[in-house]
Amino acid sequence: VIFMRVFIIKLNRAFENFELNNLSENRMDLVARCVSSAFFLDHDIRRDVKLLLCFDNNKVVEISGEIRQMRPDERSIAGFFKGLLQGKRYNGIRFYEASFNDIIKRYKVFYVLDRKGRAIKEIRIDKPVFIIGDDLGLPDIEGKKISLGPLSYMASHCIVILNNHLDGVIYESA
Ligand SMILES: C[S@@+](CC[C@H](N)C(=O)[O-])C[C@H]1O[C@@H](n2cnc3c(N)ncnc32)[C@H](O)[C@@H]1O
Repeated sequence: VIFMRVFIIKLNRAFENFELNNLSENRMDLVARCVSSAFFLDHDIRRDVKLLLCFDNNKVVEISGEIRQMRPDERSIAGFFKGLLQGKRYNGIRFYEASFNDIIKRYKVFYVLDRKGRAIKEIRIDKPVFIIGDDLGLPDIEGKKISLGPLSYMASHCIVILNNHLDGVIYESA
């Protein structure tokens, strides 16, 4: 059985109006890169992924592989977020109010990405549910802490590494 991959990103910023010409202002650049890392393959979209972006004003943007007409560049992706703020709705994107704690309560098992955790290679991933921090990091969260290595990676790059790791698990056992 292949489980849905779930990436939960805890953002330390509010989801509020922003300029498409200045994505780094509210770190929408980081948010957009997480979307691209979670879903985009070369000419394809990963269907088995769910990305939960938890903003700190209790707004959640939940994206699934049902998204259409999104391109992998940051500006195209950010355009969807701008649309959400203007009341537009899209296939594969849910937008609602919930706190980060509400979101993690949904999952019995999850892994907290932490540079100082246990090496991912030593762990058998039961359910691929991962919590990742933004540039300001994560608070101390009760859960299984896993590390991708001794260096501190960007949140979006953690997603790429995890996706590739899970691809390997599936590929090798196929
Ligand atoms: C840019 S890093 C956070 C940097 C922040 N200044 C800190 O020290 O916590 C973003 C997130 O990626 C994850 N991360 C970064 N490097 C990692 C690693 N080597 N192993 C596991 N997770 C990592 C963590 O969840 C982290 O909160």
